[in-house]
Amino acid sequence: MVQATPFLLVLFLALGAHSLSVKKCSLTGRWVNDLGSNMTITAVNANGIFSGSYHTAVTATSNEIKVSPLQGTMQKSPNQKGQPTFGFTVNWSFSDSVTVFVGQCFVDDDGKEVLKTMWLLRSHMEDIKNDWKATRTGTNVFTRLQLQE
Ligand code: BTN
Repeated sequence: MVQATPFLLVLFLALGAHSLSVKKCSLTGRWVNDLGSNMTITAVNANGIFSGSYHTAVTATSNEIKVSPLQGTMQKSPNQKGQPTFGFTVNWSFSDSVTVFVGQCFVDDDGKEVLKTMWLLRSHMEDIKNDWKATRTGTNVFTRLQLQE
């Protein structure tokens, strides 16, 4: 038991130092995706609820693009290990559509934060007969917008 004490102490210190040095992925801030769309997420609250704004670079409509609000939730379970799953909805200000995104906030091999997402874009249909063509799907990858010096 006496011999085991220094070993356990070193082990605990090593584990503690490791957990301190592992970078966590944070949703808060400004992001750009592979289409050139910009997104800002303001603070995530203690329950994982967040809001923000979305400036899409593209649209399925002929309407003029406007910055639109988003609302989402992030998983707060301790099993997330600094790479949380999340979902958010964008309620488009300039069209009758909504988009839901789900994804995970990762830290990649270079230590950079990346949001890997999948989305469903629901367009409004005048007639139930057109329901079959109302939903588009795809993926987007977001990286953090670097602050200009
Ligand atoms: C619309 O066209 O009715 C609203 C804009 C939809 C933009 C879509 S949402 C999924 C994809 N990712 C983006 O950043 N923009 C498009």
